[in-house]
Amino acid sequence: MVKPKVLATHRLFDPARRILEENCDAEYWEKPERPPREEVLRRLKDKEALICLLTEKVNDELLQAAPKLKITANVAVGFDNIDVAACTKRGVIATNTPGVLDETTADFAWTLLMAVARRLGEGDALARSGNWKGWDLDQLVGTDVWGKTLGIVGFGRIGKAMARRASGFRMKVIYTDAVRAAAEAEQELRAEYRDMHALLAESDFISIHTPLLPETRGLFDAAKFERMKRTAFLVNTSRGPVVEEAALVTALESEKIAGAALDVFEKEPAIHPGLNRRNVVLAPHIASASLETRTKMACMAAENVIAAFEGRRPANILNPEVLKG
Ligand code: GLV
Repeated sequence: MVKPKVLATHRLFDPARRILEENCDAEYWEKPERPPREEVLRRLKDKEALICLLTEKVNDELLQAAPKLKITANVAVGFDNIDVAACTKRGVIATNTPGVLDETTADFAWTLLMAVARRLGEGDALARSGNWKGWDLDQLVGTDVWGKTLGIVGFGRIGKAMARRASGFRMKVIYTDAVRAAAEAEQELRAEYRDMHALLAESDFISIHTPLLPETRGLFDAAKFERMKRTAFLVNTSRGPVVEEAALVTALESEKIAGAALDVFEKEPAIHPGLNRRNVVLAPHIASASLETRTKMACMAAENVIAAFEGRRPANILNPEVLKG
């Protein structure tokens, strides 16, 4: 029997490859650098499934180049790289990888928060520099985290995982979201709802956990920074374009806020040069990058593909209306 052909734009991990290879004829992009677009389009000509990363735009151009495509499986929870409506129009299933990365991403948002508050980037640089002259009373003094107010913007699975970790730091947790959480969730996480205005004014640390949507693009603009405390820090592990980077740089330069810790950027992999500052911690989009979690994400994408080939509903389908047709 001829096995369905799959293109993975990454070498993936062995457990995901095993899932695929049992049932499919899988082709991988094995090189460490991302494949050129024209190479992806060329290889897609005879493929029925695409497993891709969030760096691949799944749009009309790609779908046109892949006339046999049945499913595009994103190895990421965020799917702003996928034009889901265009997929639906062509009857192509789109899937993502929700759930498996929540705790790992929240761990990393905390890593960033702690790093910027306690000036770990500067400390690490000093310790390695050969110029450290020894302990000093006012050396690299930072800001306490414990006992402060954490403001969470976007109270979905990752936002809630962020909140859960705050109790060990005896923090007050406030959140804002388009939809208010159930009373039980608020109670369990000891999180209080605020509108955005109030959250900006009250928070010592603001951590963003919204998806990138038309409503959240540029959500953090000059007006928002104006309302934050001058002593507050911004943490972003969601999507870069949720923050207007130029406005953030201006806010940092004019000391409207105390600092920022960022895993995501407006025009990745480019980073606004104004963010290369003492009070900014930068990471290259690695919030979900534990071996365990990235392996689970790859396996999930592979399983979504297998389900589609077997005529089952993929667990993480984004456009179930395709199955009705
Ligand atoms: C990573 O950014 C993801 O969306 O999974």
